[in-house]
Amino acid sequence: MTKIVATGRGGVGKTSFTALLCRYFKEKSPPVLVIDADPDQNLAEMVGLDSKKIKTVSDVLFDIKVGNIEEKLKSSLLAEKIDYLINQNVLYESNNFDFLSLGVKWTEGCYCQPNNILKGIVERLGKNYKLVLIDTPAGLEHLNRRIMSSVDEIFAIIDPSKKAFDNVKRTYKIISEIGIKFDKFYIIGNYRFPDSLLGSVEEQTGFKCLGKLDFDSEVEKFNLEGKSSFELKEDSSLFKSVKQIMKKAGY
Ligand SMILES: Nc1ncnc2c1ncn2[C@@H]1O[C@H](COP(=O)(O)OP(=O)(O)O)[C@@H](O)[C@H]1O
Ligand SMILES: [Mg+2]
Repeated sequence: MTKIVATGRGGVGKTSFTALLCRYFKEKSPPVLVIDADPDQNLAEMVGLDSKKIKTVSDVLFDIKVGNIEEKLKSSLLAEKIDYLINQNVLYESNNFDFLSLGVKWTEGCYCQPNNILKGIVERLGKNYKLVLIDTPAGLEHLNRRIMSSVDEIFAIIDPSKKAFDNVKRTYKIISEIGIKFDKFYIIGNYRFPDSLLGSVEEQTGFKCLGKLDFDSEVEKFNLEGKSSFELKEDSSLFKSVKQIMKKAGY
């Protein structure tokens, strides 16, 4: 199981990128598990699922807490209840890929805060897949929950701003401090990143830069209409740049 994570500030293009990775890898190396770790839950639509019908891990934890579960489950151990309900109600099977949304708001006082339920959940769920893709929210608080103990590749997406460069350093620091093991940490310029600055990214950050995600006016339109990225044309400039980046990453 190879785990790939997209990080970056809000609006840089993490979800669009992850959806296109799903499109690419579900053909190239299925089966793929796509995990939406962002409580805003935009990824479902972008991979062609109806977000209104999606039940999240967070919903299941809540159902368990208030006793809204099948009678036969009530005497089971908590871990068994969770595994059963996630497999039954949260994991969406699609064409060559499965999808799951954590749906958890990582705030103080969250009802699942006191326990370790989500610890290692990515590894537990991902063990039957060749590839696991994880879309993250802008903050990195979720990583403190240790939803995974290791990842293979982190793709930090940056826009042309000082905040984006600071975010990269912060991401690297937090991941290292929490103790999540990772193999590669790459930078990608987003669709607003000027070509002329790409050459200086490695020098400024100390991390390998794999190029940039191209601007694609269709993406904006699709996002507005809630359309799936799978409907983007095969020769979409963004999809082409995603494939190029993955090639540089060795895929
Ligand atoms: N390659 C692109 N070309 C044009 N617009 C893009 C591109 N990628 C993202 N966008 C625009 O940026 C917005 C935010 O993208 P999104 O992938 O949701 O970012 P994030 O997940 O990082 O918040 C989208 O609604 C879309 O309008
Ligand atoms: Mg997003």
